[in-house]
Amino acid sequence: MKTLRTISELRSALAPERRTGARIGLVPTMGALHEGHLSLVRRAREECDVVVVSLFVNPAQFGPAEDLGSYPRDEARDAELAEAEGADVLFAPPATEVYPDGFATNVEVDGVTGVLCGDSERRGSDHFAGVTTVVAKLFNMAQPDRAYFGQKDAQQAIAIERMARDLDMPVEVVVCPTVREPDGLAMSSRNAYLTADERDRAPAINRALEAADATVARGERSASAVLSAARAELSEAGIEPEYLELRSASDLQPVEQVNGSTLLAVAAQVGKARLIDNRVLGGTSSQ
Ligand code: PAJ
Repeated sequence: MKTLRTISELRSALAPERRTGARIGLVPTMGALHEGHLSLVRRAREECDVVVVSLFVNPAQFGPAEDLGSYPRDEARDAELAEAEGADVLFAPPATEVYPDGFATNVEVDGVTGVLCGDSERRGSDHFAGVTTVVAKLFNMAQPDRAYFGQKDAQQAIAIERMARDLDMPVEVVVCPTVREPDGLAMSSRNAYLTADERDRAPAINRALEAADATVARGERSASAVLSAARAELSEAGIEPEYLELRSASDLQPVEQVNGSTLLAVAAQVGKARLIDNRVLGGTSSQ
């Protein structure tokens, strides 16, 4: 596996592959790789001829009060893990390569980004514009045939799918199931911030999603009943959600009733870690 730092090195490495018709897969990450990330690399390895993993802790998507400075960074370990999964290229550019002096362009998706994790009163930053701008740039840098994202960040995946469709980007966005710890906690680089006590309480987030799902399976369809089942699990663990909402899984519009593709999305601050998770209720969609 090669580690590349500049866009021109990346282009030179990929151009000959593209000319021979090789299918290029991109897995964008911010590093601190765990099984969730590696499941995307594995899927890309299965489906593509050349697998590029990008590693860039994107300052543009962190709010002023967020953890950019303390975000876990260990490139050597990430490189070993990516290589072990068969990645061909680790693209790890410095911030100056991605945002050179004078950088002034934003890619912003309307509609699906102002709610949940994009509610500016809650986060005080244009988080999703930061995400879609850097992902648009990564798509242009690597020009992948397919790019792999996790359902764990459902709203992010929806925004990226929307961007690729709206801007006619010639890439297939593939969304992969959430990978969980044995006790149900969704894997996240931010789980590293949890103390032992917080780590014990955090699986209540997934239990809340399961309780909601069980409520729907019993035939309950009203949003308030489904949400209160979830809220009960959270409060038992002393977790106060930042948001706990039912929305359409396709466009994130609020819903009063659960139907086949309803997303239950939750975010909660647990100690220093802001944890998010979600589940598609009442359907067979991947979790
Ligand atoms: P990061 O949080 O490093 O996640 C990289 C990718 O891994 C995302 O697509 C995310 O949804 C996926 N992922 C994270 N945890 C997962 C889990 N438990 N199961 C399955 N997939 C999981 O998301 C970002 O970085 C950034 O916003 C990025 C897209 C790289 C843009 O900067």
